[in-house]
Amino acid sequence: MPKETALFLRQFVTNPLQVASVVPSSRWLARAMAQGLGPNSGRVVEFGPGTGVLTSGILETGLPPENLSLYEMSPSFAKLLKKKFPNITVHNAPAQSVVGNVEPGVEVVISGLPLLSMPMAVRESIVKAAFEILRPDGRYVQFTYGAKPALSAEQLDRLGLKVIAGPKVWLNIPPARIFIFQRA
Ligand SMILES: C[S@@+](CC[C@H](N)C(=O)[O-])C[C@H]1O[C@@H](n2cnc3c(N)ncnc32)[C@H](O)[C@@H]1O
Repeated sequence: MPKETALFLRQFVTNPLQVASVVPSSRWLARAMAQGLGPNSGRVVEFGPGTGVLTSGILETGLPPENLSLYEMSPSFAKLLKKKFPNITVHNAPAQSVVGNVEPGVEVVISGLPLLSMPMAVRESIVKAAFEILRPDGRYVQFTYGAKPALSAEQLDRLGLKVIAGPKVWLNIPPARIFIFQRA
């Protein structure tokens, strides 16, 4: 078993609710999550990068590494990410702590967080935090293993957001649906 897959599995066993998957995402999901980004994109923040599969997908678009910063709660994953991506700022901190630490005006937040494993209020606080740093036309891109977005219609209304269903990526374990959140 590759070293990173083994680390992922160990982290899942240690903290199943926080990791919520036994294997990292596929490169096909990573490409789909990074769609629309490129060398001229603005700042991007990634939530819950794990072993960095989505991070690699983002960098493959040509986005300058200095435009990307990561928020990962697990110390073991954060240590690996710092070694693997020396030119990217890695914060070993919860996604919610972006508020006050990241200057507003971010173009995209890419999230690999397991929102469906979290209580509704926590999901809402994370998406709210993302929109506090996103620019007015910024987007929050989230994959999920469920059929619906992670926030209810009532929560979306409260935050003034709309959701567009993106592609379903079948080449992933399990298949995942992408949802794009924007200001309504
Ligand atoms: C399902 S894994 C996804 C990992 C990676 N993005 C992928 O797609 O392979 C969820 C990741 O989110 C991290 N995580 C969970 N809650 C978090 C939070 N509140 N802030 C930052 N990271 C968090 C976990 O430690 C884990 O690395």
